[in-house]
Amino acid sequence: MSTVIDLPRIIAHRGAKANAPENTIAAFRRAHEEGARWVEFDVQLSADGQPVVIHDHTLERTTNGRGEVRAKTLAELQALDAGAWFGRSFAGERIPSLAETLEFLASRGMGFNLEVKPCAGRERETAEIALELVKRRWPSGLPTPIISSFKLDSLAAARDVDPGLPRGYLVDKLPPDWRATAERLDCAAIHPGMRRLTRDQAREIKSAGYALLTWTVNDVGRGRDLLAWGADSLITDAPGDIAAGLAL
Ligand code: G3P
Ligand code: MG
Repeated sequence: MSTVIDLPRIIAHRGAKANAPENTIAAFRRAHEEGARWVEFDVQLSADGQPVVIHDHTLERTTNGRGEVRAKTLAELQALDAGAWFGRSFAGERIPSLAETLEFLASRGMGFNLEVKPCAGRERETAEIALELVKRRWPSGLPTPIISSFKLDSLAAARDVDPGLPRGYLVDKLPPDWRATAERLDCAAIHPGMRRLTRDQAREIKSAGYALLTWTVNDVGRGRDLLAWGADSLITDAPGDIAAGLAL
């Protein structure tokens, strides 16, 4: 199993998503301003094979564009507004490329959880392209990132590109065979959704030697319980509020 070093207690989900448009540089900047040391973000590929940071596979919810991300080139995606939907003061925010995101995070000395969020059929390719970029661009003196995905083919590709980068097995509900999958993919961490995570499962994950990162924790009381159960990191939309509420 690869080793995860120096995981933070708080990871800002898609940036500080409660207070800025998700998966934009503004959201990553806001996360930093709220005191988060790490962010989580989602990566998929444009039509011309460029890794971009956006959650949905379609553009309508978080941009002024229409249609599928996979059908647009990087230039077309970056011509869209990804901030105005959230608030007028964010008009002009763009869909960041992965390269721009890494550059911003490095400039702030932050760490990250890169979630590979491939469209159907590009599970391996998305992980390969994203991880090649991380390998080339991420400075060695900064926190070692963690690479997660719901897609097992993406995790396998991530392992093949850079076995030394820790991987997180991302699940909504922990399946009975989680341990065999985590072993097969040589994962360092398990990222279960907090809603259906039980205390016994949390303890099982920790006693098996895995890091436990859980999402999306926007309630202080729930966060306190999860930390008491052994969670290493809480992935939250409101890093400042959750850290303050937990006195972290
Ligand atoms: O990585 C945790 C969380 O981001 C997974 O779900 O849909 O928010 O990307 P989603
Ligand atoms: Mg995500």
